[in-house]
Amino acid sequence: MKTVAVILAAGLGTRMKSRKPKVLHEILGDSSLLWVLRNLPDGIEKALVVVHHGKAEVAGAMFSWHEEGLIRVQPQPVDQGQPLGTGHALQACAQTLDRLEAERVLILSGDVPLTRKATLTALAAHDAAILAMDLDRPGAYGRVVQQADGRLAGLVEFKDASETQRAIRRVNGGIYALPWAPLRIALEGLKNDNAQGEYYLTDAVAALAQSVPVAVEVADPSELMGMNSRSDQAALQAIARDRVNLGWMEAGVSFLDPSTVLISPRAKLGADTVVEPLVRVDGSCVIGEGCLLGQGSILTAATVENGAVVRPYCSVEGTRIGAGAVVGPFARLREGTELAPGVHIGNFVETKKAKLGRGAKANHLSYIGDAEVGEETNIGAGVITCNYDGFAKHTTTIGKRAFIGSDSQLVAPVTVGDGAIVAAGTTVTQDVPSDALALSRSAQVTKEGGAARQREKRKPKGM
Ligand code: UD1
Ligand code: CA
Repeated sequence: MKTVAVILAAGLGTRMKSRKPKVLHEILGDSSLLWVLRNLPDGIEKALVVVHHGKAEVAGAMFSWHEEGLIRVQPQPVDQGQPLGTGHALQACAQTLDRLEAERVLILSGDVPLTRKATLTALAAHDAAILAMDLDRPGAYGRVVQQADGRLAGLVEFKDASETQRAIRRVNGGIYALPWAPLRIALEGLKNDNAQGEYYLTDAVAALAQSVPVAVEVADPSELMGMNSRSDQAALQAIARDRVNLGWMEAGVSFLDPSTVLISPRAKLGADTVVEPLVRVDGSCVIGEGCLLGQGSILTAATVENGAVVRPYCSVEGTRIGAGAVVGPFARLREGTELAPGVHIGNFVETKKAKLGRGAKANHLSYIGDAEVGEETNIGAGVITCNYDGFAKHTTTIGKRAFIGSDSQLVAPVTVGDGAIVAAGTTVTQDVPSDALALSRSAQVTKEGGAARQREKRKPKGM
C-alpha cells in the first residue's frame, strides 16, 4: 500500500516567542523537523511538509539536509497559505496526495521530534491508528475518547473539552496512520465552530472513526512530547540527551556524569571511551575507541582516533586528532588541524590549518597557523607562526626532527629544514636550511653588581 508521509510544520509557534519557525528550533543541535524526517519508516518514499510561516527558511533547511545526506527522502514543501488549523493543513495537501495516488497517509507533527522509528514503523503496520500517551498531568493536549473495545471514539481538544473529558489522562500525540480515501471525505466536512476557530484534523479523525475502526496505540510519553514553548524544548533536550547517552553506554562508553554531557544524535563514539562531565560533542563527530574526552571540552566536526586523549577544557573544531595523540588541557584546535598519531599539544596552544607529523610536540603557549610541522619536531613554549601580514595569510613549513626554541617567531612565508635548530627568542625571517642553526639576538650585556647599585639608588631617603 502506498503510504505518503505528511508532516505539519506551518504553524507560527506563538508560544516559542521567536522569529524562527518553530520546527527549526533545535534539540541537541538538530532541528525538530530534522529529527522527524530522519525517523520516517523505511517503506516511505514520499514526504509532504506543510509550511507557511518562514516557508523559505524551512524549505531551504530541508533541501540542505537532503544534500548533506542527513535524510533519505527528499521532502516536498506544500504551502498551506494562512494556517487555519491542522485539518486545513491536510486539506492543503489533498490535491498532491491524489496526484501521488496515496493510499495511506502517515501524519506527523514537525514539533513532535522524539518519536522513535520503531514506534512509527509499528504504527504504520495498522490500517488505521493513532498514537496516544498517558500523562499524570495531561495539560493542554487533546483528549482521546475510546469505545468499550478500545477503538477510537473521538478526539476532543483541551479548550473544547468538558470537565469530565479534561479528566481523561490518555492524550493525542498528533501522529496518525490513516487510509487516504475516507480521510479525504472527512476533511471535506470539517467546520471551525470550536473554541479556537480552527479546522481541526482531530475532528476529521474522529469523523473517520465512525466508519473505519481506528486503533489507539499507546507510546511512552518521552516519544510524544511536543515542543510548544521554550520549557518544552528544554524538557525534550533532556529526554534526547538521556536517550543518546544511554545508547552509548550500552555500546561500551563510560560517562562520569551523563546528565551534564550533550552528544549530537549524529556523533559516533567507540567502546571503552570515557566521557568526563560537561563535555559537548556536536554534529557528525567521530570518536574512536579507548579515547578520553576531558571535562568541559567541546568538539565540533572532529575526528578523534583510537586512544587519543583530549584533556579538560579544549575546544576542537574541524580537526583530526590521530591515534594516541594527547591534547590540552586548555587547547584550541581550529578548522583544518590534522594531528598525526602521537602528537602532543599542550596548554594554551592554538592551531589552525596546521598539520603536525607523527610525534611532533607543541606543549605550551603557541600559535601554529597555516603551518606544516614534520615528525618528531619540538616546538618550544611561546612559539608563534606569524601567518598574517595584514593583507594575506602565508605558510610556515618546518621539517622533521627540528627544534624551535622558546619564544621564537616564524614570519611566514618561511621554511625551516629537517633537523634545524632555531635558538630561543629568534625571529625567523629567512629560510633555515636542514641541520642549520638560526639565531637572531642582540648580544647580552651583564654588569657585575648592577642590580645592587640599582636598589641602592632607588632606596627611599633616610633608610
Ligand atoms: C495538536 C492536536 C492535539 C494533540 C497535539 C499533540 C489538533 C487540533 N490538535 O495540538 O490534539 O494533543 O497536537 O502534540 O490537531 N500546523 C500547521 N498548520 C496549521 C496549524 C498547525 O501546519 O494550520 C502544525 C504546527 O506547525 C505543528 C502541528 O501542526 O507542527 C501541530 O499544531 P499545534 O498548533 O502545535 O497543535 P497542538 O495545539 O499542539
Ligand atoms: Ca503542538
